[in-house]
Amino acid sequence: MFFALVQDKKWIKRLKDNLEEHRLLHPTLKITQVGDWTRIPLSQCSESDIPELVRQHSTIVEEEEPQKTDSKLQPKLKYSVYPPMALIVSGQQVDEQSVQSLLSINVTHVAINSPIKDATDVVRRPKIIPVHGDFGPEPTLESINNPTESDFDAAFWATCVQHGVHQTWAPRYTMFSRGNIKEKNRVLTQFNNQQVISDSIVVDLYAGIGYFSLCYAMQHPTLVLCWEINPWSVEGFARGAKRNGINVRVIRHGEPFQPLQNDRIVIFLEDNCYAVERLSKLTSLPQFQQTPISHINMGLLPDCRLAWGQAMKIAALSPQKTVLHVHENVAADQIESYSLQCADELAKGQPGCSTEHLHTERVKTFAPGVWHVVMDISATNPIS
Ligand SMILES: C[S@@+](CC[C@H](N)C(=O)[O-])C[C@H]1O[C@@H](n2cnc3c(N)ncnc32)[C@H](O)[C@@H]1O
Repeated sequence: MFFALVQDKKWIKRLKDNLEEHRLLHPTLKITQVGDWTRIPLSQCSESDIPELVRQHSTIVEEEEPQKTDSKLQPKLKYSVYPPMALIVSGQQVDEQSVQSLLSINVTHVAINSPIKDATDVVRRPKIIPVHGDFGPEPTLESINNPTESDFDAAFWATCVQHGVHQTWAPRYTMFSRGNIKEKNRVLTQFNNQQVISDSIVVDLYAGIGYFSLCYAMQHPTLVLCWEINPWSVEGFARGAKRNGINVRVIRHGEPFQPLQNDRIVIFLEDNCYAVERLSKLTSLPQFQQTPISHINMGLLPDCRLAWGQAMKIAALSPQKTVLHVHENVAADQIESYSLQCADELAKGQPGCSTEHLHTERVKTFAPGVWHVVMDISATNPIS
């Protein structure tokens, strides 16, 4: 039988109603909570009968019809399911029985997550402890820094669908932060009101596996241009983009970039300090001279200050206003004053450009009294 695994709570009722309308909601089995997923049981049907809305906003898994005793096996563990993997929150006792019960919810890989301890690790490399399943070869310095196609092929890749956007990553090499779902929702539903995304260029200076870039790409900009230094994130991002049916190209450092008609996402595998140079060349091409740079995403924690100057130079290339999305960990009692100060400091970095603080979003608590915030700051070049 099939189950729909739903992670985004706001979709649960709509998907349940939709299944009911199609007479596909299981008449006796209950909807249950599995880690942070809601598991909706479907009546007997073939996969092609499952409505499009349900497919788009859930992960469909096929499992044996549960026996009554199964509920006793449900572990009390805290974990997340990223098909086909269950990732157990660190610091818990994990025994064979709990692993077996996780395997019974149709995952094939189980690992224990441990937090990124090194705050200076800019590429945010994760540390997972594989417990069950083939997670691919143990990373080596060479495979981490200079992966080959065969390293990519041998690695284990996990997936997650949020707001209908597929994301892919190799858990041994890059992290996935499900806590950013709130910010992804803002990208999808609110950023277009700040500055229109369609027919514009969007820039992501810390693209990672693309969870923000993909949300922009869904809104039909002319191009999403991304910078990322971790080759594993770039590979995951490219795989994720293809999974979403979005055309993607990877340009390595030193390779020239000639835009092509069907480019949608271009990922530069290099430091974002080269972004200004790349964008100056692009915006001097006749076909891009009038294309606004609508949004610049800057998603690095604890702060992205190193890219502030670059971001303002990029905004100055735009014929219309650009909205910068500045991520930072900020003490709760300083958020308002710091946001205004941030807008002033950014303006000072690009004489002639004016800035305006539009909004500050509290994404999640980072530590007691400290919030991961995103400051939306518009930058306008006087000649625009
Ligand atoms: C917090 S993660 C961003 C998460 C991202 N939104 C995603 O979808 O995965 C920050 C990313 O910035 C990358 N990074 C850090 N410094 C960079 C730099 N100077 N240039 C380009 N990428 C950088 C890291 O490798 C990491 O993937």
